[in-house]
Amino acid sequence: MTIAEAPEETKLVSAPGAGHEGQTFLVGDEVYLRGAEEADAKVGMSWRPTLFPVAPELTEEWIRDDLAKDDNATLLIVRKSDDRVVGSVKIDNEGIDHWLEPKVDALYGERGLRWKAEAILLVTRWLIHERGQPVVLLDQPADETVVIEAIEGAGMRRAACFREMLARDGRRVDRLLYEYLSPEWLVTLGDPNDAPLERTGSGEPRPVPPPVTLDGDPPRNAMMVGKRVYLRPEEPGDGVKSALMARQETETFFDIGRHLNSPVMLEKWINDHQKPDLPSWITFAVCLRENDELVGWVALLDVDYQNRFAETGSFFGNPAYRGGGYGSEAKQLLLEYAFERLGLHMVQSWVFFENTRSAAALRKQGYREAGRIHWLYPNNGTLDNFVLFDLLAEEWRAMPRQEWEAKPDA
Ligand SMILES: CC(C)(COP(=O)(O)OP(=O)(O)OC[C@H]1O[C@@H](n2cnc3c(N)ncnc32)[C@H](O)[C@@H]1OP(=O)(O)O)[C@@H](O)C(=O)NCCC(=O)NCCS
Repeated sequence: MTIAEAPEETKLVSAPGAGHEGQTFLVGDEVYLRGAEEADAKVGMSWRPTLFPVAPELTEEWIRDDLAKDDNATLLIVRKSDDRVVGSVKIDNEGIDHWLEPKVDALYGERGLRWKAEAILLVTRWLIHERGQPVVLLDQPADETVVIEAIEGAGMRRAACFREMLARDGRRVDRLLYEYLSPEWLVTLGDPNDAPLERTGSGEPRPVPPPVTLDGDPPRNAMMVGKRVYLRPEEPGDGVKSALMARQETETFFDIGRHLNSPVMLEKWINDHQKPDLPSWITFAVCLRENDELVGWVALLDVDYQNRFAETGSFFGNPAYRGGGYGSEAKQLLLEYAFERLGLHMVQSWVFFENTRSAAALRKQGYREAGRIHWLYPNNGTLDNFVLFDLLAEEWRAMPRQEWEAKPDA
């Protein structure tokens, strides 16, 4: 069965009653989906997306206080035969795209994977063919063959592969990204797989600059020091500078247009995001060694300490410092921090198609293309695409070490 074909069950309307009886949609062969109820807390560990043990009373509170606010965002996977909750699917919808985050109780083994696949296809069919959405995306561990065969058989397309991203059973496993593009939107917009991806720059990875030997003291509060720039924690006052730089921005292609942020909000963000013991965002201010001027930021985003990966991000607020190798120098310091201090296994990066300079910089820094995903943001009267990259710690360690010339991209 493909995603476009509804299974027979969804067309049946039986008498209202317990379980799936009477439910007219999101009902499959073995499982059906429904919203969470307080009583589902009793088997919370089967479906709540957490690694940690949580008492049913706390899960009940979480259902009432958090989950219930987000209507439709989390659906429970329930076994038809006995109404046992066996998993859940979170539907993350921040922009145009819908990301599915399914979880099925691992204790069910292969049976659970079958239910997971069925739930993915039910939700995808509903979002695309009933709710008219253009694209559904899914993160899928590469070792779940049962799920992969089912979703590929139903027409989902493998769009990207982040190598060795997940830690499972003492092994590293690739994380695959799948997309399902709406057939109706394909007629209107054309197949984005045909969209050309322009590549600028030399495409050649450069050697990693060797560690800098300092004659005197390090720059104030520096954590990583390069030849021309150093990384320090963000500090009060950086938010005000960032807001001023944003008001003077001249380029529009590297994000969905320009941003105007309140300096008060940025200062609060700096203050708040450094507080957790294991922060999910680790942001560094990039400063010039010659005069301590703040010229940009590099960051590890959504750090996953269990699987040991993060997304990398860079932003040089002053356009005078773009295209001159400063971003790549700062990124190499960030990679050293990520791999050698934090112990990450790999990093990933996402780039708008139009941002050819950022993609060229990543290639130069040693990243490899991991694929492309489509229709994630509106642009020029259509929906536009991302090119994705990854870099493994062992690849970065194997890159040659060599001092750069004064202008490394010359
Ligand atoms: C992305 C960014 C951090 C990269 O740092 P950088 O110092 O500019 O990068 P580098 O100078 O080391 O490398 C730039 C590469 O792009 C190429 N390039 C330079 N200017 C370019 C342009 N206008 N268009 C396309 N390619 C360009 C260069 O040739 C170089 O590649 P090569 O050395 O292989 O030839 C920086 O440009 C920036 O802050 N841009 C704005 C914010 C942004 O785009 N952030 C990333 C979002 S994904």
